[in-house]
Amino acid sequence: MAAPRRDVSEAGILAVRDLRILFPSRDGRDTVKAIDGMDFAVQAGETFGVIGESGSGKTTLGRALVSLLRPTEGQILHDGTDPERLGARAFRQHRRDYQIIFQDPNAALNPRMPIIDSVVEPLEILREGDATSRRQRGIAMLERVGLAAEAADRYPHQLSGGQKQRVNIARVLMLRPKVIVCDEVVAALDVSIRGDVLNLFADLQREFGLTYVFITHDISVVSHISDRIAVTYLGKLMELGPAEDVIERPLHPYTRALLSAEPIPLPSHLRVDRRIILEGEIPSPVAPPSGCRFRTRCPSVQPRCADEIPDWREVRPGHRVACHFATADGPPPNNQPAQAAS
Ligand SMILES: Nc1ncnc2c1ncn2[C@@H]1O[C@H](COP(=O)(O)OP(=O)(O)OP(=O)(O)O)[C@@H](O)[C@H]1O
Ligand code: SF4
Ligand SMILES: [Mg+2]
Repeated sequence: MAAPRRDVSEAGILAVRDLRILFPSRDGRDTVKAIDGMDFAVQAGETFGVIGESGSGKTTLGRALVSLLRPTEGQILHDGTDPERLGARAFRQHRRDYQIIFQDPNAALNPRMPIIDSVVEPLEILREGDATSRRQRGIAMLERVGLAAEAADRYPHQLSGGQKQRVNIARVLMLRPKVIVCDEVVAALDVSIRGDVLNLFADLQREFGLTYVFITHDISVVSHISDRIAVTYLGKLMELGPAEDVIERPLHPYTRALLSAEPIPLPSHLRVDRRIILEGEIPSPVAPPSGCRFRTRCPSVQPRCADEIPDWREVRPGHRVACHFATADGPPPNNQPAQAAS
């Protein structure tokens, strides 16, 4: 997995251009800006990590990347194609290349259906092959993801969370996708088996030439698996760069705060669930702060931050940041220790 260090403006297997996704608020009176302007590209074969606190728009982004949500503004190109412009039939064929796996291992499994039926269902919908060949392919895929053939005729409640997540992986792989968005796929699993499931993802990537967008709030997971890491805050990217650089030499005060709330990433077998803890509430995406939206929690804030939206600048090769004062040496110094992250 070579770490691609290309410029954001280049096309990729996924190219996100000035993306905005807005929802009506629950009472219908306001607009929730879940994604409020994002630009980046994901290159074929890489693992693109997305990290940020709860509510920062990660799941919304993931769903949009696989066409489960439409952009309100902007574009998401799949290998140069805008899926929004395809006719219904071409869209159905195209979508099989862009799949998503969710945190809840039960989400895609019908509790009343044997495992094999859930695994072959995507092929059935596309009317690919006959029942016998689909079953054979399904069992082979279950074995490939580390499940015994006997699992095929079991029901979801007879499997552990980790086994069910393996079934979900087999199910999407039946479509031979190019891209899989993994939304907190190990968060619901027992800590002791997370490393095994992450290693399975890495093996399958090599074998099937997959591209991953790996969404998580757990820095140890994202640093373990990613080639590049994007840091989201309140619907925008704060930083994007090679994984090692982002973890070891972050540029944005927000990333620095996230990392300071975390111990050094541990090997998978020693890993425990570590949630991001920052001081202060994330502001509402209905009315994000003016200027830099991190300013209400930023320990380096200055008057300019309230007035001007920071540019999305490349300050190191392939490493971008949205902060007025970040330099190639790192984030600006803390000037308000009382607000610093714990
Ligand atoms: N269908 C919807 N209608 C209204 N608001 C929504 C909808 N989906 C998401 N939101 C809001 O958009 C914002 C981003 O939500 P999203 O689920 O994408 O965040 P997230 O980063 O995945 O959070 P988490 O880490 O908790 O999963 C939140 O404020 C959320 O309440
Ligand atoms: S622009 Fe200002 S508020 Fe935003 S991260 Fe930089 S210093 Fe902090
Ligand atoms: Mg989410």
